[in-house]
Amino acid sequence: MKLFLFHFLAAATASAFVLSPRHTWSKLILTHHWPTTFCGMEKCHSKIDTWTLHGLWPNNGNDCNSTWHFNISLIEDLLPDMEKSWPDLLSPESPKFWKYEWYKHGTCAAQAESLNSQHKYFSKALELYHKVDLDSVLKKFNINPSKQYYQFDHIQEAIDGFYGAKLKLQCVHPSRNADYQILGQIEICFTSDFSLMDCERETREKPVNSSVKAQAKPGFIVCDPGVPVYYPPLMSLHH
Ligand SMILES: *[C@@H]1O[C@H](CO)[C@@H](O)[C@H](O)[C@H]1NC(C)=O
Ligand SMILES: *[C@@H]1O[C@H](CO)[C@@H](O)[C@H](O)[C@H]1NC(C)=O
Ligand SMILES: *[C@@H]1O[C@H](CO)[C@@H](O)[C@H](O)[C@H]1NC(C)=O
Repeated sequence: MKLFLFHFLAAATASAFVLSPRHTWSKLILTHHWPTTFCGMEKCHSKIDTWTLHGLWPNNGNDCNSTWHFNISLIEDLLPDMEKSWPDLLSPESPKFWKYEWYKHGTCAAQAESLNSQHKYFSKALELYHKVDLDSVLKKFNINPSKQYYQFDHIQEAIDGFYGAKLKLQCVHPSRNADYQILGQIEICFTSDFSLMDCERETREKPVNSSVKAQAKPGFIVCDPGVPVYYPPLMSLHH
């Protein structure tokens, strides 16, 4: 009996350790999306022509604490900025998107003391979003939504140079064998104390080669450096 109890306790302790690792992430990914591209994929109708927040994602862990319920009244003061900077492009009137991001990513980010409340998490994401000000940086380099295509390297080099860190650009491939790709998402990476750092572009996701691309379903993947980039102006992807 005693021996059994010992094993039971040892197992319980070991699994508790495995199930609730503390702060196991080392990087935060601030993800922006371009509403026109997103809505071209998802069939929404956005009139927004700025890069908006998709999320602030730790590089490790999803859905870390399902009992930590999203409560919008805790971020009441942030709502005007949330609605502008982090809009739900699919259902603009509802907090569904923020709730989803909180459960999936916020509860993991919250393992760090600097992000251990809903207010800290959402306000830090907004703060970083305004600080990097991606929209102005692209405009500064004259990279504007346009009917003309851009060379991928032109965009990547301009913004990497500006931030002094490698950003990750993601594109949608519009159809089989398309000779262009549509810019849709840009990730900027931070250390756990919020300094800029390089995003990994190669390790987890490689740019797809043309035989893979021919079968690609719509979705964001790392842009292919060899393919011209379409940065779509507002409403140009639907009629
Ligand atoms: C999960 O969140 C609840 C509610 O905030 C908290 O009481 C609990 O300690 C959290 N659990 C872990 C493992 O962090
Ligand atoms: C949400 O937060 C508010 C403010 O702290 C609190 O009064 C309320 O009870 C919370 N609601 C739930 C469902 O926990
Ligand atoms: C492209 O991907 C296909 C399918 O994974 C693979 O068989 C092929 O060798 C790859 N070609 C190159 C040039 O990497």
